[in-house]
Amino acid sequence: MPAKSRNTRGDRQVGLFDGPPATDLVPTLAHAETGKLRAVAPEAPPAGTKRRSGKKPVREDAQSMAARQREISVSEFFTKNRHLLGFDNPQKALLTAVKEAVDNSLDACEEAGILPDLEIEIHEVSENRFRVAVQDNGPGIVRPQVPKIFGKLLYGSKFHRLKQQRGQQGIGISAAGMYGQLTTGRPVQIISRTSKRKPAHLFHITIDTKKNAPTILKDEEIDWDVDRGTRVEIELEAVYKKGRRSVDDYVEQTALVNPHVRIRYAAPKDELRVFDRVSNELPKAAEEIRPHPYGLELGVLLRMVKETPARNVRGLLSGDFSRVSPAVADRICDTAGVSPTTNPRRLSNGQVELLFRAIPKVKIMAPPTACLSPVGEELLQRGLEQRLAADFFSAVTRSPAVYRGNPFQVEVGLAYGGNLSAEDPIDLYRFANRVPLQYQQSGCAVTKATLSVDWKKYGLQQSRGALPVGPMAIVVHVSSVWVPFTSESKEAVASYPEIVKEIRLALMEAGRRVGIWVRRRRREADEMKKRTYIEKYIPHIGDALQAILGLSDRKRDKTVDNLKTILERARK
Ligand SMILES: Nc1ncnc2c1ncn2[C@@H]1O[C@H](COP(=O)(O)OP(=O)(O)OP(=O)(O)O)[C@@H](O)[C@H]1O
Ligand SMILES: [Mg+2]
Repeated sequence: MPAKSRNTRGDRQVGLFDGPPATDLVPTLAHAETGKLRAVAPEAPPAGTKRRSGKKPVREDAQSMAARQREISVSEFFTKNRHLLGFDNPQKALLTAVKEAVDNSLDACEEAGILPDLEIEIHEVSENRFRVAVQDNGPGIVRPQVPKIFGKLLYGSKFHRLKQQRGQQGIGISAAGMYGQLTTGRPVQIISRTSKRKPAHLFHITIDTKKNAPTILKDEEIDWDVDRGTRVEIELEAVYKKGRRSVDDYVEQTALVNPHVRIRYAAPKDELRVFDRVSNELPKAAEEIRPHPYGLELGVLLRMVKETPARNVRGLLSGDFSRVSPAVADRICDTAGVSPTTNPRRLSNGQVELLFRAIPKVKIMAPPTACLSPVGEELLQRGLEQRLAADFFSAVTRSPAVYRGNPFQVEVGLAYGGNLSAEDPIDLYRFANRVPLQYQQSGCAVTKATLSVDWKKYGLQQSRGALPVGPMAIVVHVSSVWVPFTSESKEAVASYPEIVKEIRLALMEAGRRVGIWVRRRRREADEMKKRTYIEKYIPHIGDALQAILGLSDRKRDKTVDNLKTILERARK
């Protein structure tokens, strides 16, 4: 979607991939002689640091160490530890950047009740350098928010809400921009428009990593032939590959668990691929919930006691938690020996601990589950049928369950036979809150649960501690108001026993179904084989009997018919 800028330098096309002017290069990076970008030399040590002259190392003392101690900005931390955010190699970096932008677009569209229409483009700028563009038809972003969203880590709208969403940390897109800035020196480009009646804005933004604050290189109104939405472009050092764990794979899998999404995807040097919607209905909107008291941690309760607007403990418990009525709150207070009318701010730490210990002793209803939005058995199965050439399909959606007070729900889709390879381990596709997980398979609760199932029972081969072998593909989707990822890069689900158990039960149910189908098919195949034997050999036996016993043709045919009937009966 080309866009025209209306700036003082005249009408300039701000198309997809036309790079920013050279002045946009981030000042903290400099060109090395090779033409590649490198970080500038680290700054001089702060005043007060002891000089290490000569060979003997100088011992530090408390004073000199104090001079070195200083705050670390979250952006500096993640620049050094970018592997934690999924930027540990160039191929993965490309995937992560696309994924962060797509996650945000889908979250925003769904929150605004808009059927998502996405455009994903990857353009090769030069060797190992790509420009990623993701555009949505979502609600757009209001102008003052754009710099903070894209130029500040740990800034977002989702962290403090208990609701099923793809994003949760407030790091994703700013980290992708920061990686781009670090490896190419280019700022993130954002175009956003909130309605047809409002102008579109173009921003060029970098992160000042020392301050974890945005630097705005460009902020101007532009003409954009799109009524509403957001377009994010990031230039980054990356490698584009096809096959497993590729962006192509990711886009395909995203379409599978998001049947309501339409994606137009342009990979480098490839034809445009369009993934059309399977459903024209938005998923059931996930509601926000308050935390459930089961699984609450003491520190969290201590903080809530300090921050609550409630005037008494009864109000705190019934107002700030889900499923706690004033009567249940009184029962908790009673068990703890704390008066329900006490002002929360007057509670001693000891009293808060008494309340904390009383909570598990009082029966409280399970958390509400309207906060979850699974794909559903029908759509999951339809999605699989559309994308895989298999013979048997099934899907299982479990009832919601709870881990550490957080509702979650597991669903499994399964495809068997057809084109799927019978000699290789099964294909296991993992998803969390409708996002494909492509890395850290071995560290994921989904893999752990899959390995724990005895697949031999269901007609597959399986060696100890390995994935089963057979013509099968399995999709496991875990949705939750808070997915416990094993790291900030959101690649694997942590193995909470409750989650592993639910996945296991869903897999066993799907396994039973495929087992029944496989056994029935085997029986049918056996029968078919026997029937062909009968059809093939009995007429010859008839001929032989005719020759030996001198039967008439009529008698021979009668004997053949009799033999067939007897064998058919015996076969059943
Ligand atoms: N395309 C978009 N349309 C509308 N709002 C957006 C868009 N992209 C980002 N945002 C807003 O910017 C915020 C920050 O995004 P960011 O990806 O950094 O964090 P997050 O999505 O909240 O969490 P996570 O780190 O898990 O991705 C989001 O919470 C959302 O409010
Ligand atoms: Mg995000």
